[in-house]
Amino acid sequence: MSWKDLSKVELHLHLEGAAPPSFIRGMAAEKSIDISGIFDERGGYRTGSFEHFLKVYEAACSVLTSPEDYRRLTLAVLEESAANGVVYSEAFVSPDFCGGGDVESWRDHIAAIEDAACEAEARAGITLRTIVTCIRHFGPDKAKRAALCAAETMGGFVTGFGMAGAETVGAPKDYAWSFDLAREAGLRLTCHAGEWGGPGMVADTLRDLRPERIGHGIAAARDPALMERIAEAGVVLEVCPGSNVYLGAVPSWQKHPIETLRAREVKVTVSTDDPPFFGTTMTREWEMLDKTFGWNEGDLTELNMVALSAAFCDEATKDRIRKTLEAA
Ligand code: ADE
Ligand code: ZN
Repeated sequence: MSWKDLSKVELHLHLEGAAPPSFIRGMAAEKSIDISGIFDERGGYRTGSFEHFLKVYEAACSVLTSPEDYRRLTLAVLEESAANGVVYSEAFVSPDFCGGGDVESWRDHIAAIEDAACEAEARAGITLRTIVTCIRHFGPDKAKRAALCAAETMGGFVTGFGMAGAETVGAPKDYAWSFDLAREAGLRLTCHAGEWGGPGMVADTLRDLRPERIGHGIAAARDPALMERIAEAGVVLEVCPGSNVYLGAVPSWQKHPIETLRAREVKVTVSTDDPPFFGTTMTREWEMLDKTFGWNEGDLTELNMVALSAAFCDEATKDRIRKTLEAA
């Protein structure tokens, strides 16, 4: 048996960041919005540095203006994930892009996303849960509105709260109110940290926001004591190697610290982050893990199991996905 026969679990995927460029181009044309500057000659997204990527990302989001747009986006994204063997996925969705932080508009957007997720589940056998996400560089006030939206819609489909965006802006403690509100509402927590910031940013995030998962977290590999604490606390890292290499957070796949983290018994998972922006898919991530580090079907099965046990869904869903993984 080869890892190519295995199904996959993905925990770190930005819904808009997974939008195929053709989808965004088509929607811009329908609405006569000119965002041609974000595409390259071959029709892909044109991105360079992380800061430039964020601008292109936000320009792509500007064409998504209604719940129906998000319903269509979700179908397109899940079709692509399912084609890459993903059977369980968690997607970051932001009230800032879905209705501008207005709770009623957010409700309509998330209902449309859930509707599409049900359709994709019936059609392609992929299960989706969502993590409501505030955007760090939009500031703490907008984060509060995102947390309120999250608390209002928390349930079987909206199961987590997190933070993405530019890690260089502000400090984790500026967002503690939002994380506390989300925790008290019963949401599970994750936060991007240690993608661009150093080990201190990971430590501050763990101390001030108390997430059970960290998005990226690769800077922890530079601090053995921090790795030990993370391993002991059972905090799970949502590592996105292809994203890190593409954006230059690490110099190459060979130099990616995922092996170091795993060797120190830190729980790692692997995801794509924003796949079409970074020329990746879950299949490519696994191919590169095989090619670079020699990870075989045993390693990748373990990766799936760590991800499934850290998933923000109920036990019945986990049992069902576990059976699907075992049957593959
Ligand atoms: N939003 C989308 N992708 C992101 C990333 N890699 N880091 C921070 N915020 C993001
Ligand atoms: Zn991310």
